[in-house]
Amino acid sequence: MGFFMGFFLGAALGVGLIVCFARFQNNRSKVRIDLAKSITAFARMTVQDSRKLLPPEAYPSWLNWLNHHLEKIWPYVDEAASELIRTSVEPVLEQYRPSILAALKFSKLTLGTVAPSFTGVSLLDGDPGEIIMELEMQWDGNPNIVLDIKTLVGVGLPIQVKNIGFTGVFRLIFKPLVAELPCFGAVCYSLRHKKNLDFTLKVVGGDISAIPGVSDAIEGTIRDAIEDSITWPVRNIVPILPGDYSDLELKPVGVLQVKLIEAKELTNKDLIGKSDPFVELFIRPLRDRTKTSKVIDNCLNPIWNEHFEFIVEDISTQHLTIRVYDDEGIQAAEFIGCARIDLKLLEPGKVKDVWLKLVKDLEIQRDTKNRGHVHLELLFCPFGMDSVFMKGFKPDYALTTLEKALRPEAANFSQAISEKKGDILFRGVLSVTVISAEDVPVTDLMGKSDPFVVLIMKKSGKKNKTRVLNNTLNPVWNQTFDFVVEDGLHDLLILEVWDHDTFGKDKIGRCIMTLTRVILEGEFKDTFTLDGAKSGRLTFHLKWTPQPIIRD
Ligand SMILES: *[C@@H]1O[C@H](CO)[C@@H](O)[C@H](O)[C@H]1NC(C)=O
Ligand SMILES: *[C@@H]1O[C@H](CO)[C@@H](O)[C@H](O)[C@H]1NC(C)=O
Ligand SMILES: *[C@@H]1O[C@H](CO)[C@@H](O)[C@H](O)[C@H]1NC(C)=O
Ligand SMILES: *[C@@H]1O[C@H](CO)[C@@H](O)[C@H](O)[C@H]1NC(C)=O
Repeated sequence: MGFFMGFFLGAALGVGLIVCFARFQNNRSKVRIDLAKSITAFARMTVQDSRKLLPPEAYPSWLNWLNHHLEKIWPYVDEAASELIRTSVEPVLEQYRPSILAALKFSKLTLGTVAPSFTGVSLLDGDPGEIIMELEMQWDGNPNIVLDIKTLVGVGLPIQVKNIGFTGVFRLIFKPLVAELPCFGAVCYSLRHKKNLDFTLKVVGGDISAIPGVSDAIEGTIRDAIEDSITWPVRNIVPILPGDYSDLELKPVGVLQVKLIEAKELTNKDLIGKSDPFVELFIRPLRDRTKTSKVIDNCLNPIWNEHFEFIVEDISTQHLTIRVYDDEGIQAAEFIGCARIDLKLLEPGKVKDVWLKLVKDLEIQRDTKNRGHVHLELLFCPFGMDSVFMKGFKPDYALTTLEKALRPEAANFSQAISEKKGDILFRGVLSVTVISAEDVPVTDLMGKSDPFVVLIMKKSGKKNKTRVLNNTLNPVWNQTFDFVVEDGLHDLLILEVWDHDTFGKDKIGRCIMTLTRVILEGEFKDTFTLDGAKSGRLTFHLKWTPQPIIRD
């Protein structure tokens, strides 16, 4: 986090200068003539080349040299960095502060007597105009850090962060390369890979377990802050030569659309009744970029049917994180499980339907307890690419004549889409043919069931049902139902299989379906396993008959 940032600011510069000077000292007389050539060579240098440049014998000694000097200057770094870190890190922590804490400040901060050490270095291939270097660093520090926190009920607590153990790889990008020393205009640094981060929290003069939830909240805040403020692709830019380096900044490249559909078999956290689950979703754990779903009361198989959008900056390394909690009213919500999906698994412009298994911890996967699964539909739209839903729609078709007359500016359909995607409603008629089911579980003593299917449109609440078929485990209904759908992209079809009984009825299982596939494909027939049932598959046919698209 901050302690690393401040320290690193100094170290990064040092390393950069060392590399350049080491390279140019050998041929100082020819510096000017060879400068351009050397820079190009530098830029093309691979790890192997860097080994040649710094032969194996020299390689460790070069790191030793660096570590030795870092140790010597460490007391000064500590002194200089502490104040800098305090002023720059407090606002960062504030951004990630969980809502159960009213304030989070440093009351003491020194980095301690132990300097970090570099344990590895490599140079990577980059653009010809830049040098990318990765440095592995280890720090088993003895800093003295005391956080002053205030809880919502007004209790102030001094909390000490102790025994920091950190191993990670920092990436440095020297860019742009220029023909004057130190040969680059700015350095970007970022934590490429966090291998290990341990620390302990202790209430000064007390026991942290006396205040439940606080320890977890602080630990979570620190981890989120590191995760988001310096972890790749987020980078910090240190300008060396005057200039405009805004092109080095991280920029949004597209939008991730997430449909939170449902979850199943969530762990029950309540002694009386069932959990009241809700979901937190984020790509970057910044408070204003974290989305929260509705709470579904008393349910372990909740259906949310909610839609969220996230800004994406780097599809190759970012991921979407999902955390499911049990709402406890005024008390802190209880954690049920979390999951993560790498955005690089998404094909731009293509809808992906995923079931993610919830785990306790994304990094330590020792936990084998079943915490449930979450069902999502994901679509990554890079800027400038039309959404899949827009392909094949002609502007004439998309707007009614009346619409065009009323809103001439909306006549430019592609413009309308790129400006306000959310305004487009997909209206149409959904025809559902419930064909058959097979292998329906036995529900009565005779070894049979009397199954029927209930069809529900989640958003409008419209319902219908098939006839009951007596004494069968492989019913064939072959019945068709039409639903007028106002907002196809945000509705869900729920098919529940029930058993009709003389004394009432029992739900056997269900299938849940967004309309995305049928809107894209027009129609399809498929077989789905029944969720929540021991066995059983349901076969149905869906058909979408679109009506003119209108703006909201
Ligand atoms: C419609 O909008 C797009 C995107 O802004 C633009 O490229 C195109 O020229 C516009 N077409 C007309 C007919 O105005
Ligand atoms: C199914 O059984 C119920 C009584 O158990 C009966 O009323 C009904 O007519 C039967 N339906 C068919 C289609 O046989
Ligand atoms: C379902 O009904 C359609 C026409 O109503 C018929 O063509 C088809 O063969 C039936 N399918 C089954 C499996 O009974
Ligand atoms: C249920 O479906 C049947 C057959 O498609 C239809 O005649 C009936 O009107 C529907 N009922 C409702 C309430 O939509």
